Amino acid sequence: MIPENPGPAAVIVLAAGAGTRMKSRTPKILHEIGGLSMVGHALRAARSINPQRLAIVVRHERDLVAGHVSALDPDAVIVDQDDVPGTGRAVEAALEALHAEQGLTGTVVVTYGDVPLLSGELLDELVATHERDGNAVTVLTAILDDATGYGRILRGEDGSVTGIREHKDSSEAERLIREVNSGIYAFDAEVLREALGNVTTDNAQGEKYLTDVLSLARAAGGRVAAVVTADRWQVEGANDRVQLAALGAELNRRTVEAWMRAGVTVVDPATTWIDASVTLDEDVRLLPNTQLHGATAVARDAVVGPDTTLTDVTVGEGATVIRTHGSGSVIGAHAAVGPFTYLRPGTVLGEQGKIGAFYETKNVTIGRGSKLSHLGYAGDAEIGEDTNIGCGNITANYDGEKKHRTVIGSGVRTGSNTVFVAPVTVGDGAYSGAGAVIRKDVPAGALALSVAAQRNAEGWVPANRPGTRSAELAQAATKNSSSTPASTEEGK
Ligand code: UD1
Ligand code: MG
Repeated sequence: MIPENPGPAAVIVLAAGAGTRMKSRTPKILHEIGGLSMVGHALRAARSINPQRLAIVVRHERDLVAGHVSALDPDAVIVDQDDVPGTGRAVEAALEALHAEQGLTGTVVVTYGDVPLLSGELLDELVATHERDGNAVTVLTAILDDATGYGRILRGEDGSVTGIREHKDSSEAERLIREVNSGIYAFDAEVLREALGNVTTDNAQGEKYLTDVLSLARAAGGRVAAVVTADRWQVEGANDRVQLAALGAELNRRTVEAWMRAGVTVVDPATTWIDASVTLDEDVRLLPNTQLHGATAVARDAVVGPDTTLTDVTVGEGATVIRTHGSGSVIGAHAAVGPFTYLRPGTVLGEQGKIGAFYETKNVTIGRGSKLSHLGYAGDAEIGEDTNIGCGNITANYDGEKKHRTVIGSGVRTGSNTVFVAPVTVGDGAYSGAGAVIRKDVPAGALALSVAAQRNAEGWVPANRPGTRSAELAQAATKNSSSTPASTEEGK
């Protein structure tokens, strides 16, 4: 076996901050964009560079955050930060948890839990530059028009990075610097550990600044450098919901663009939302106002939209899904769904099948070529192949206490407004009459009729609703047709 590229010794994700500007009971880094929490995006980027260890520093809402992280990445080491504030202290806590004092060597990468657009590629570039140049510290920076609030990158006359000055500690002149610290770095493990031991809280915020490591490393003779990214989105954090939405929109713009470049037609990128976890084949067409979430997968030549939301739905080749709200369902190849269709979890529609307008389905398997074209509910049911379920059919699956199954065979034709009172079974090739209430099993090939014979009480309306428009019209009609006897035949 060829050994995998070992990647850096560790990635440390900082996530202890409170995130008060979010004004939320949900911890900031658990807020989602593109169908994944911000910390989920951070963990994905960190994992993609294949670190030997991955640690995440928590404090605010510790249990919630730790539980979420462990569910996403069971191998991540959860590190608790103590009362000493600051990014330097957070990294120090992580190094202790990783037993760095017992000889952690190589590259240690630091990232943030609230910078969701950072890509594995950019992290890779940071680490590659750091290792190629034999740096002690390499910081990822960006040039911003408005650098307010950020740590500024200090450079010497020769252009080399000499340190970072926090906004609150900076002079007037330093505040004019537009190159900012992203907070993402690659460190030499030993330099980092040593320097952190010498970092104090002697600054405007009374915090242990990680940024002080740069000047300390340089003073100790190490090479300190920067990788400048032109892609500011990749270093942008979300502190409030306005930034969260902006980052979410940018992530989506990137996702949609990537799919278009991969051969997917997106008629209106601005109203098409695709989670990072969705997969699409070549020649899929997405019409306006379509949202694809979770593990949704769409096969080639399928058309989804307009106005469709699918979560964890598999769409087969050449299928069409119009104005549909669906989750946890499978739509077969060349099948048709919609418009105005509600697919609930467990719906499995076979190839060339159809679930039409104003249908709700749940936990139902529908065989190849079977059609449920209009107005109805099918739940807890199994329907064979080439069956036609008439307009307005309903599976009465709930007896008030329990759910029961309806089993309908292949080649069945049901009349309009048939109700299947489950548990009930309908055999292959059976028919039902309009309005039938199927309480007993129907054998193969039988016609099931359950409605009482029709009886017409002639003249009832004029007699009982005299003077109404209905009575007037009825009387006029009876007069006009007095030559032809009214059809009163019963049980037709
Ligand atoms: C920090 C940097 C600043 C940089 C900016 C980029 C320092 C001293 N300053 O500033 O140079 O421009 O990020 O956004 O590092 N965190 C902890 N424990 C703590 C404090 C913070 O884990 O005690 C985490 C936070 O959850 C967050 C990250 O570290 O993910 C940054 O914290 P924040 O308070 O936003 O840093 P800034 O003061 O903005
Ligand atoms: Mg701060």
